[in-house]
Amino acid sequence: MNTKTIIEPFRIKMTEPIKMTTRKEREAFLSEAGYNPFLLKSENVLIDLLTDSGTGAMSAAQWAGIMLGDESYAGSPSFYHFKETVQDLTGFKNIIPTHQGRAAEKILFSIFGEKKKFIPSNAHFDTTRANIEFAKHEATDLPCKEAKDTSLEAPFKGNMDVSALENFIKEKGRENIPLVMLTITNNTGGGQPVSLENIKQVSAICKKNNIPLFLDACRFAENAYFIKLKEKGQQERSVKEISQEIFSLADGATMSGKKDGLVNMGGFLALNNDSWAEQARNLLILTEGFPTYGGLSGRDLEAYAIGLKEVVNEDYLKYRIRSVQYTGEKLTAAGVPIMLPTGGHAVYLDALKFLPHIKRHEFPGQALSCQIYIQGGIRGCEIGSVMFNNPINELVRLALPRRVYTQSHMDYVVEVIIEVFKNKNKISGYKMTYQAPTLRHFTAQFKPL
Ligand code: F0G
Repeated sequence: MNTKTIIEPFRIKMTEPIKMTTRKEREAFLSEAGYNPFLLKSENVLIDLLTDSGTGAMSAAQWAGIMLGDESYAGSPSFYHFKETVQDLTGFKNIIPTHQGRAAEKILFSIFGEKKKFIPSNAHFDTTRANIEFAKHEATDLPCKEAKDTSLEAPFKGNMDVSALENFIKEKGRENIPLVMLTITNNTGGGQPVSLENIKQVSAICKKNNIPLFLDACRFAENAYFIKLKEKGQQERSVKEISQEIFSLADGATMSGKKDGLVNMGGFLALNNDSWAEQARNLLILTEGFPTYGGLSGRDLEAYAIGLKEVVNEDYLKYRIRSVQYTGEKLTAAGVPIMLPTGGHAVYLDALKFLPHIKRHEFPGQALSCQIYIQGGIRGCEIGSVMFNNPINELVRLALPRRVYTQSHMDYVVEVIIEVFKNKNKISGYKMTYQAPTLRHFTAQFKPL
């Protein structure tokens, strides 16, 4: 039988209540939070789509792993379980656990010396860019041309512009580029996947120029599943096989386990270069901990290892990608402008098209994310002029935590957004009244105009 409904491939063993609030209460909570949803208390959020990072639900097997975690300071079996799992998946020689993705980034970008270096990517995530800039290097995004058009239905809008990469290497000089990065999937560009073909092309350019290729691999399984679905000749391969090939084309990776590691905390830096690994471990000891735990408990490493095995399960990935697509389809059918096609972990509302009457310097994305909270207690995340200088688009990301919300939760989200869309002309822009010098979106404060 070919049924139409793709169900959640799990039963729910434990529940967490979510609190209903009134519109009046939410207006007060948002005002207290300086109109920045990051500053809301999460207990006052009904459906929390702020991020898919560290917000997923662990499986029964992972919780069992928590009990098995070995807390030895050095040489814990939980570390070896983790290391073998990452090596089986990635093939990289040196596996360095960190407490989350940005810790791996901080360490990696600290070992390239004092002289300013250039680090290109398809699109750097905000913490990656900030860590590169903090180390006094320069981060450059080289997205493919299709990435800029939010309404264009192209299969691999996360790709890097390979001819732009070749020009970039010529212009800056290969000796000034310690590595090239590819973010899979491309988070800031809409959760769009990078094709295997594009990864191969970038890898070949890197090899020709003797520059290492590093993956920002937070959402590698979602990216590999898209390759299986959409790329010619990949349909018969397993997601694990595709993932292994992706990693084999690179020299290293940073990873936030809070996404496709299916854990609430964890990360790693993995790399083949022994001399870089030695420098990285020395920094790790300084800030994260001994190389066999790197900022994580033994129980975290155990759950993380199990999560990395579960995430390539294709029933899970089918449900995961379909939930995002389902939400996107319903919004599109109602005329709500979103980034198309839907990506792996989130639906991105196009705030410029949603609120054409609000100028970019009055933060249309911020205005939209505030309004969906007021309307229905839903928290999303602005990815636009608040988060970045000169972003390509003004987006509001509705990121789906893994294995947390059901189809009826998403039906509710769709209803709320359609209601906001019907009344969009009543929404005003915002003025920023406070900002921190770096990563300002986390703590900025606003006033409605
Ligand atoms: N790279 C990408 C592509 C990310 O999406 C993130 C985090 C990181 C690196 C950093 O990892 O949070 O473990 O330090 N993204 C989260 C998000 C915060 O909401 O998209 P981290």
